[in-house]
Amino acid sequence: MRSRLIAIAAIAAAAPGVAAAQTPPPKSAADGIAEYRKMLEDGNPAELFEAKGEELWKTPRGPKNASLEACDLGLGPGVVKGAWVQLPRWFRDTKRVQDLESRLLSCMQTLQGFDAAEIAATPFDKGEQATVTALSAWVASQSRGMKMALPQKHPLEKRAYELGKRAFFYRGGPMDFSCASCHGEDGKRIRLQDLPNLTKNPGDGIGFAAWPAYRVSSGELWTMQRRLNDCFRQQRFPYPGFASDVTVALGVYMGVNARGAESIAPALKR
Ligand code: HEC
Repeated sequence: MRSRLIAIAAIAAAAPGVAAAQTPPPKSAADGIAEYRKMLEDGNPAELFEAKGEELWKTPRGPKNASLEACDLGLGPGVVKGAWVQLPRWFRDTKRVQDLESRLLSCMQTLQGFDAAEIAATPFDKGEQATVTALSAWVASQSRGMKMALPQKHPLEKRAYELGKRAFFYRGGPMDFSCASCHGEDGKRIRLQDLPNLTKNPGDGIGFAAWPAYRVSSGELWTMQRRLNDCFRQQRFPYPGFASDVTVALGVYMGVNARGAESIAPALKR
């Protein structure tokens, strides 16, 4: 009951008067969100972040006063459309498998002269971290409606998948939880929150195919990195490093499992 009230309160807070006026039969938080989304029609607040991200991409910034228009997200310099549904992937220049956030850090460092490590250590929503969030929203939006298609050709991409799988099933901490404890079965819920089964394709617009997403409950846009950060907390694990290898590997595992699912990122979430 309490979480149901919180869910409704959260929706009401984001849309004053709307949810309060016609309380939906709250089967689960997901149902509430679905209704809220319908009420908003195409008006996902994530659009504000997308617009900001597009502007940031095109604006000369940083010590080198350059834009990000030459950034290679995997499909060649400057190609944004379709790039998101193929990330994380292996990159020749950095010789690493990178997800969107990690790749944006590389581009901000090489093209604009920012210090990637410094940005990675910056708290969420502060300074250039906020830039990465907005950029992620815009880049992801340019693949909306496309199907997840992470490459698995390079040996390091295959290795990242195996590492991600191991990390997903690795149990530890005071509760002996793994990601699979909460996301390893169909039809699981914590209170009223649906927990997608991420060990297989969870379907269109769920899990990896949804983030970055605008979270109604906090009024913030969260990248997948931030989503993972919060799940590490729920797992009672120490917070992972931003864009660290384990978070990228988890992304590869979930993204490859979601192959063929339609991306709705940036989605609207509880
Ligand atoms: C104690 C339970 C718990 C554990 C352990 C956990 N999560 Fe979660 N996870 C949740 C909950 C609850 C949500 C939904 C949160 C919400 O609705 O705001 C969620 C949401 C997610 C989502 C977004 C799903 C979607 O469709 O929006 C992803 C992806 C995810 N978790 C990945 C992971 C990964 C990877 C791990 C391991 C590092 C993990 N989670 C560990 C509880 C958990």
